[in-house]
Amino acid sequence: MSNYGAIIAGTGSYLPERRLTNADLAKLVDTSDDWIIRRTGIKERRIVAENESTATMGTAAARHALEAAGLTPQDVDLIVCATITPEMQFPSTACFVGAGLGLDTTPAFDVSAACSGFIYALETANNFVKSGRYRNIIVIGAETLSRITDYTDRQSCILFGDGAGAVVLQRSTDASRGVLYASLHADGNGWEMLHCATGSRNPVNADLIATRRQYMQIKGREVYKFAVQRFAELIEDALHKCQLSTKDVKLIVPHQVNQRIIDSAMERLGLAPDKAFVNIDKYGNTSAASIPIALDEAWRAGKVSPGDIVLFVAFGAGLTWANAVVRV
Ligand SMILES: CC(C)(COP(=O)(O)OP(=O)(O)OC[C@H]1O[C@@H](n2cnc3c(N)ncnc32)[C@H](O)[C@@H]1OP(=O)(O)O)[C@@H](O)C(=O)NCCC(=O)NCCS
Repeated sequence: MSNYGAIIAGTGSYLPERRLTNADLAKLVDTSDDWIIRRTGIKERRIVAENESTATMGTAAARHALEAAGLTPQDVDLIVCATITPEMQFPSTACFVGAGLGLDTTPAFDVSAACSGFIYALETANNFVKSGRYRNIIVIGAETLSRITDYTDRQSCILFGDGAGAVVLQRSTDASRGVLYASLHADGNGWEMLHCATGSRNPVNADLIATRRQYMQIKGREVYKFAVQRFAELIEDALHKCQLSTKDVKLIVPHQVNQRIIDSAMERLGLAPDKAFVNIDKYGNTSAASIPIALDEAWRAGKVSPGDIVLFVAFGAGLTWANAVVRV
């Protein structure tokens, strides 16, 4: 490894205009605004228009991140897109984003690690930058979860929304800034807890459609326990490995899974709730997109500034879980 730093040179996001409120959902399934707010903290989520998709949102978020970094698409050396709702089974969503940015030779690939996807993609890009291989990488988290959500299942349909976020990860000669640490984990034995069955094991056919397995299935209560436990472990690991105290961390940007999960993990750690940036009330859970969207919002709201230490934590289908410590 060289002595390069991989800094976040710009952030961007894109959220579709259409809002799906709790009141709208109460017309589709047996639920209420009060129940959803109390159990999840979510008030509304965004849903794509007919002509929008993971790549259109990812491209828009990437453009905003490039503008923020003062770069043009021609400066991009690699595109990495984290998603579980790709544009198509193939080619990768990142290829569509490249074309959307007007690029025709820039390498591009997707990373699939569900709600941990953005951190997986960031750490992948980090290694490409730190090795000296690439100078500017667009790292995207983009999801169109509404297209794999079963709007007859009240347990899951209240949780998810659409959107995209992106960062430009840039080579710097200042190795004290950028991604300082990241750890990635997976346990495929837990796949059943959270999954969408379509694929080589379950090709789309009439039986699959009749049993609604083209939509994601979740075991909410089990995921809840997993998430609270991992959240706390990941924060403790990040602090320990980087020899930081909680006072050194300006902001925790967690995967926006559920307000109660975030609150209960923060309480378990003895941390003030406002140390975590939360915008789940507006967007719900957008899987791989949730951390970069939250980071972009926090950044633009002035909640983090150059030199601050920010901690990312995420957990989700796979099962996967991951953390990253970044000096922005
Ligand atoms: C799904 C989730 C919001 C449910 O909240 P919860 O407090 O755990 O609720 P429970 O599952 O214990 O259900 C409590 C009751 O509410 C009911 N309920 C479930 N969804 C409901 C809804 N949308 N509206 C009203 N009632 C609902 C349940 O049927 C259950 O009723 P019962 O006691 O008569 O059986 C919560 O478990 C969660 O956020 N889990 C993680 C979600 C996830 O997988 N995210 C993606 C991974 S990152």
